[in-house]
Amino acid sequence: MQYLENQNIKYKNNQLYVEGINVDDLVKEFGTPLYIYSKNHFINQYKEFEDAFSQIKHKIFYAMKANFNLSVINTFVNLGSGVDVNSEGELFRALKTGIDPSKIILTSVGKTKNEIKLGLEKNVLMIKAESEEEVELINQIAEKMNKVARVAIRVNPDVDAKTHPYISTGLSSNKFGVDSKTALLIYKRRKDFSNIQFTGIDMHIGSQITSVSPFVDAMQKLSELYIEIEKDGLKLKHFDVGGGIGVKYNNEDSFSINEFAEKTIPLFKKLNCEIIFEPGRFLTANGGILVTEVLYNKKNGDKNFIIVDAAMNDLLRPSIYQAYHHIQPINKSDARKNIIANVVGPVCESGDYLARDREITQPTSGELLAVMSAGAYGMVMSSNYNGRRRPPEVLVDGNKYSVIRNRETFDHLIYDEKII
Ligand code: LLP
Repeated sequence: MQYLENQNIKYKNNQLYVEGINVDDLVKEFGTPLYIYSKNHFINQYKEFEDAFSQIKHKIFYAMKANFNLSVINTFVNLGSGVDVNSEGELFRALKTGIDPSKIILTSVGKTKNEIKLGLEKNVLMIKAESEEEVELINQIAEKMNKVARVAIRVNPDVDAKTHPYISTGLSSNKFGVDSKTALLIYKRRKDFSNIQFTGIDMHIGSQITSVSPFVDAMQKLSELYIEIEKDGLKLKHFDVGGGIGVKYNNEDSFSINEFAEKTIPLFKKLNCEIIFEPGRFLTANGGILVTEVLYNKKNGDKNFIIVDAAMNDLLRPSIYQAYHHIQPINKSDARKNIIANVVGPVCESGDYLARDREITQPTSGELLAVMSAGAYGMVMSSNYNGRRRPPEVLVDGNKYSVIRNRETFDHLIYDEKII
């Protein structure tokens, strides 16, 4: 049995700790399923990113869709990060932290009129536009509001990010952005948009990308376009390369942030503008675990099942992307035999699993398991399916911990519903 650890989530005397706090103690207080995050992991990842790009003019906008708990957003805001928001709801959350709206970027392939209006009202740094029609609409709304909208066009560079098809966004067959030709035409039509100031150009080619080359290919294409736009007389302030940097969930090949910086900085230096990054997963994924209790062990035919109290409604990634999350007991014991099993939840779907055909130490019922790398796209994608209450979230900072979201109550489940 392999045990994954990192600087902030590791075993001491065979017991799993998040920073200075014993996971078992947190479970005694808060029960399971339970999300636990390491604040210092988040901070270290942010600083590592900052340091890697210290020699160029850049800015990080945390993609809060990865983990939008107010305290998590606030951790990054306190470090000086901006925030990339993908809806009015995320904008609402971001503003709750007291962030200066000039540190917010408004994204989304399908913004409603209301979202655009809200972005302008709050005076966000930049609204990304993903179609010519959207540029026209932003212009109309800004005109009515007597404002000038700062806009970046999201360009789809048609590059294969070689990641799961559901999280690949930079191919021309994907719904995102516009192709380079269309983007150039829109920038050239700028005189038609009296209430728009084009301040940037943007891309985001996908998520959990484990090699640098798709990024470099896409950035190369975008920088050619950037230069062409400059030749046309428009100097853009921001070159936004999105997020997408992959992390290690298991033993996959990946690259370090320094390697990413080494390979991209020469390209950025040619542009002489501010580079914007929107990392989400890189900052949060390996700073979180989901702790679950084993309810039952059983065998159907030849197949072993470990039935736990966390399910697809708590962590959806395995079910929809066949994503790998390492699962390990919170108490290490080498003396036990390994089995091959499916780790499954109580939801009434065969797609409800956290691991399939996984080699794992045979657990006993009542034992606690940690589902690793659950800090990104975990809680944010949770639901109340099957009438399940969402788990609490605890943030550990050294020897202190705080509940940053309580377990939902039964009343949450029927909030604002009516019997007629
Ligand atoms: N910027 C934009 C415009 C994005 O759409 C995303 C993610 C990011 C930044 C951050 O990407 P990251 O650095 O986290 O890879 N639910 C999926 C991931 C979806 C990502 C969507 N967009 C998952 O669980 O793998």
